[in-house]
Amino acid sequence: MKNLTTQELRELYLRFFRERGHAIISSASLVPENDPTALFTMAGMHPLVPYLLGAKHPAGNRLADVQKCVRTGDIDEVGDASHCTFFEMLGNWSLGDYFKQEAIAWSWEFLTGSEWLGIDKDRLYFTCFAGEEGLPRDTEAHDRWVEMGVDPSHIFYLGREHNWWGPAGQTGPCGPDTEMFIDTGKEPCGENCFPGCHCGKYLEIWNDVFMQYNKTADGKYEPLAQKNVDTGMGLERTVATLQGAASVYDTDAFTGILAEITGLSGKHYGDSPEVTKAFRIIADHMRTATFMLGDQRGVTPSNVDQGYILRRIIRRALRYAMQLEMPEMSLSKVACAVISTYGSVYPELCENREKIISELDKEEMRFQKTLRQGTKEFERVKRNAADGRIDGITAFHLFDTFGFPIEFTEELARENGLTVDVEGYRTAFAEHQAKSKAGAEQKFKGGLADHSEITTKLHSATHLLQAGLRKVLNDENVCQKGSNITPERLRFDFSFPRKVTPEELREVEKFVNDAIAADVPITCEEMPYEEAKARGAIGLFTYGDIVKVYTMGEYSCEMCGGPHASRTGELGTFKIKKEEASSSGVRRIKAVLE
Ligand code: ALA
Repeated sequence: MKNLTTQELRELYLRFFRERGHAIISSASLVPENDPTALFTMAGMHPLVPYLLGAKHPAGNRLADVQKCVRTGDIDEVGDASHCTFFEMLGNWSLGDYFKQEAIAWSWEFLTGSEWLGIDKDRLYFTCFAGEEGLPRDTEAHDRWVEMGVDPSHIFYLGREHNWWGPAGQTGPCGPDTEMFIDTGKEPCGENCFPGCHCGKYLEIWNDVFMQYNKTADGKYEPLAQKNVDTGMGLERTVATLQGAASVYDTDAFTGILAEITGLSGKHYGDSPEVTKAFRIIADHMRTATFMLGDQRGVTPSNVDQGYILRRIIRRALRYAMQLEMPEMSLSKVACAVISTYGSVYPELCENREKIISELDKEEMRFQKTLRQGTKEFERVKRNAADGRIDGITAFHLFDTFGFPIEFTEELARENGLTVDVEGYRTAFAEHQAKSKAGAEQKFKGGLADHSEITTKLHSATHLLQAGLRKVLNDENVCQKGSNITPERLRFDFSFPRKVTPEELREVEKFVNDAIAADVPITCEEMPYEEAKARGAIGLFTYGDIVKVYTMGEYSCEMCGGPHASRTGELGTFKIKKEEASSSGVRRIKAVLE
């Protein structure tokens, strides 16, 4: 097996695929350009969705790249050996060109070839899609691995939860995949340990997805006109394997960053499990924050959307920096170490250096202040916590007055052997929002003028209209720009580059009327904003970190303040009356319920 640096692996991977006819494209922004259903680019395929659906890519139909990605779903796992909130994904794509046979043969060659990674084939394990009703078992992938020389005992068939990938948002390209694992040499966790088990014995390093379906808004899998390949190799994990490192943090990518934390804190990575965990969290979070702030579509800390995630990440890093007794304004110094490590590959970090430093310092000052006060308050709360439990109102008070995100309160509570009534917190939060919303209602762009029955129904119809437009016109093009409802009609503005044809309007109308005919219940759930996004809920604005998500069967899932009808069947017949330009790149639809 080769021992490669991070940069050597990037270069080797791209060279391998360049020699096999792939055009090398540069990493897209971390903020998806045309996908309002996701906050961050979370896979190499994400910016390529239009091309997987059939649009022509200017660089051709074989592509490869190194893409910056952010996934915050596993933020609580950060600190272990392999989880990061930011990572780089190496990928190669066939846009309707080659398929399983070539993709698998090339994956095999790159992993095991002596000129390439040279990994001992006995250490490699593979999983393939087991199939389910209507979706066949992927025997072709299995048999291809066997042809490559893989012992069948190293290949496992697993279900959808392991071997199906996508779509990235609510709808879009997806398909069965085959995943490649390396045996780390650890003892298995038990008799039933298998590649895909999270105990740490098997580390997933690469995934070949055979994107041949499009998931539609009504939950169906339609075969795509073209068969695509989408692969993703985790750069950090693969480097850790090649370097024989105990974790991704023990690779060359983190050497400079960890050294900076040592310089600032006087402590050493490895001093104790707690210190190691704090080092890892600070290093991971500051790498993510630096890439977000320095992105070509740069994010700044705020209370909504991408800015809120960034704020949470910075504040979480800050808390661990305080645990290590790092001096104030240390985070921007750690960010400089990130820029030194990555600046030559991602020049946008150097270009945005000043902004990265000043935004981090500003956010740190804001938070230091509230944190100091809040920590004192927390001591008081701790003494008063009855039965070791912090009640919901108190947790809300810590958030509202001291800027403690609920996750902080939970973490602090855990460290102090206490629990938090999170449900109670959510209720207190929602009540507070309801009160402040009453005043703000009129301020929302195109908010409801009144809540009479007909405007409520038109509001529900607006959700279905947006879902229909996204389905018929491809969701990456359509984003809500405004909405206005009177008792007579709904008006909906959305981004779209051209006139919508009469056939398309008829299709949208049909989508809405089909949803009405299905008479599905309209349900409302409250959840953290991130969870709503992860579920694929769309939405323009948010009321804070707890949002309401309205779901209409498989037809629509959208964040919104309500109110709504209770079933789609109540809406009547939906008719589009007019489609026109509203402003440049924005179309306007007026529609009624009859
Ligand atoms: N899109 C696939 C993944 O993220 C390759 O695993």
